[in-house]
This record gives sequence, structure tokens and C-alpha cells, in this order.
Amino acid sequence: MTAPRPLIAGNWKMNGLAASLDEARAVAAAIDERPPGARVAICPPATLISRLAEAIGGTGVEIGGQDCRAEQAGAFTGDVAAEMLADAGATLVILGHSERRAGYGETDALVAAKAGAAHRAGLEPIVCVGETLAEREAGRTLEIVTGQVRGSLPEILAGKAFSVAYEPVWAIGTGLTPTLEQIEEVHVAIRAVLVEMFAEHGKGVAILYGGSVKPSNASEILKLKDVGGALVGGASLKAADFLGIIEAA
Ligand code: PGA
Repeated sequence: MTAPRPLIAGNWKMNGLAASLDEARAVAAAIDERPPGARVAICPPATLISRLAEAIGGTGVEIGGQDCRAEQAGAFTGDVAAEMLADAGATLVILGHSERRAGYGETDALVAAKAGAAHRAGLEPIVCVGETLAEREAGRTLEIVTGQVRGSLPEILAGKAFSVAYEPVWAIGTGLTPTLEQIEEVHVAIRAVLVEMFAEHGKGVAILYGGSVKPSNASEILKLKDVGGALVGGASLKAADFLGIIEAA
């Protein structure tokens, strides 16, 4: 089976006002000029999705949300449904990011429900998993990560487009990254679980690495076995840095 194109997705987190659309426009223009080997996505705050779709819709840059509610509509003040993200112009959605697991108590079961909602709305989920530093130091990395993969991916995703992002919590926004051996070890373990869960389809699911990815380390990380792209936080906010990573893929 041929490997799918890697996916380089930028997670802007709670950053970005109208002026930030220029960074996205610069990314879209550069990609238009020199089409990259990778798929490229930008996940801005929900407030910018429709304006981003107007600014760069139809270019090679896909647009994603950063979270969604599992329900389709209702009395859930402040929340956003997967259908609303799709309606605004998103085609992807990040789910189960560690900042949501830690800050909002999101469990694997909730993340799985959200992934089901994403599928219902026609969005491609990027489901995040990753161990804390205490878990790694206790030698529990593979147990934690594979458990999260098993619990966060609903059966309905069988045969559907989705990806998994391995993001060690201690590597996010810290400038620290695991060794290349450590990254590969976890990706290979995630692949084994995906094949167990989804058989042949599991072999082609992209497993992104995330956590302090930058232009200077992207190339060596993206070459590793079973690394099928990157989820990029801080370095996705500036077009020049993000393009450096895209070119490395
Ligand atoms: P970072 O964030 O690249 O700033 O470490 C990655 C993420 O949280 O997705």
C-alpha cells in the first residue's frame, strides 16, 4: 500500500486576530507557487475559520477547528458543534489535545464521542494522544499512549479518513523534544494498535508527531518510521517558520 501524503497541520491555539490572516495568505501563496509533497492545514481559533475560508479557500491549504462538542446543537453555551465548524469552512478538526484533556478533564470516551461527531459532520479528525513527563519517567509511556489510542478512536472511523497525533505533553511549547528513537518507538507502537483496531486501513492512517517541531528539527523527525506528518503549534504562527517545516516534509 502506498503511504498517504504526510499532513503538516498548524495549531494556532488561542492566537490570531484578523491581521493574522496575512500569515495564512503567505503560506497559501508560497504553496501555490511551489506545491509541497505534504498536505497542509491551518487550524485557527473558531472565530477565524470563516474568514480564513474566504481568504484562502480553494488554495492548497486545508482549514481545521481545534475542538468541537459531541452534540449537534442545543443548550451548550460557548461550545461549537462539528457541524458549525464544517459550515464555517473547516474540513478537519483537532480533538483531544492535551491542553483540553488537562484543562477541561476530557476523557478518552469524550474524545471518542467528539471524533464520532466529526465524522457525522464530514470532518476529518486529528486525534491527539501523549504522555506527561511523570508518566514517561515512570516508564508508562507506551501503556498510556496506546490506551489513549484505543479509547479515543470510535469504531465508526473504520475505513474513514482520520489521523492520530502523538504529542508528548512535556514537549509541547517547551522547546524540548524526545530523542528520535523515543519518537519512533511510540509511533511504531501506535501503528500496531491502529492495525489491531482497523486492520489494513490502520496501516495507512497518518500518525503525526507534535511538540516543539520547528524548521531545524522537522526533517529528521519526519523521516522516522511511521511518522506521517506534524502537528505544529508555536512555529505555525509565522508563515516563514511554518513553510520551513512544510518544505522539510
Ligand atoms: P508546539 O505545540 O509546537 O508549540 O510545541 C504543539 C501542539 O500543541 O500541537
